[in-house]
Amino acid sequence: MSVSLFHIINFLLIFLAIVIGALYVWDLLFGRVNQPLKWKQAIKLGRVSDVVRKLEKQYPDKARFYSWWLVMEQLKEDKVPGDLAEVGVYQGDSARVLHHLAPERVLHLFDTFGGFPEKDLQSETGKSATYTPSHFADTKVGEVLRRIDGNGNIRVWPGYFPDSAGQAAERHFALVNIDVDLYNPTRAALDFFYPRLSPRGVLMVHDYNEDWAGVIRAVDEFVAGIPESMVFFPDKNGTVMIIRNK
Ligand SMILES: C[S@@+](CC[C@H](N)C(=O)[O-])C[C@H]1O[C@@H](n2cnc3c(N)ncnc32)[C@H](O)[C@@H]1O
Repeated sequence: MSVSLFHIINFLLIFLAIVIGALYVWDLLFGRVNQPLKWKQAIKLGRVSDVVRKLEKQYPDKARFYSWWLVMEQLKEDKVPGDLAEVGVYQGDSARVLHHLAPERVLHLFDTFGGFPEKDLQSETGKSATYTPSHFADTKVGEVLRRIDGNGNIRVWPGYFPDSAGQAAERHFALVNIDVDLYNPTRAALDFFYPRLSPRGVLMVHDYNEDWAGVIRAVDEFVAGIPESMVFFPDKNGTVMIIRNK
């Protein structure tokens, strides 16, 4: 049997594809890339719960996961008082991480649990204007709570934010994760939570990128009116963080 150049090139291409595929799967399963030293030390000292270790493996955006973990550690070290909140929960993937990173704090969850409100979409431009109320509509409070699988420290506030805030307006907050993609609810969440943030408390806003121009506009406008600046996180979609001054 004669081996032609065509066969050799074919063999090399298939071999290369298998190696790249195996490396990808290996990284997904055992990837240790970008683990912060502080995380590795906490693992060695047995300070990270089994559930958090499992969530670290499962959560696809490692940079986002570690930024939450690092912020939560700092809040504990600085003894910053207050609850946790997330505006924009969808199916609860990020809420699950937030709850298990600090299960001793009350976590408030705000979402329509029925997709983007029509009235918020009307003022959007660019890519976000192509979204419809059916986006993120496939979720239910009961399923979100089952997915989080947490303790009794979770309060759910379904409905249009900020109208849905109810008695959460009487609370103070240590960390708020804002992930609503659009101008109106991002601006409303910044306006609502900033005055209720403990000193050294943290606001994190996800999707600060050109695809979500409303998020950039809301954050830039808001930051122009407060003494604090924002810090950029290199997670997949871009998160900005505002730490309330003492
Ligand atoms: C990108 S999803 C949240 C994703 C979630 N944080 C995660 O990481 O899995 C955005 C969510 O914001 C919610 N949302 C947008 N505007 C809202 C508003 N004005 N009031 C309540 N929820 C809103 C949508 O219903 C949607 O579930």
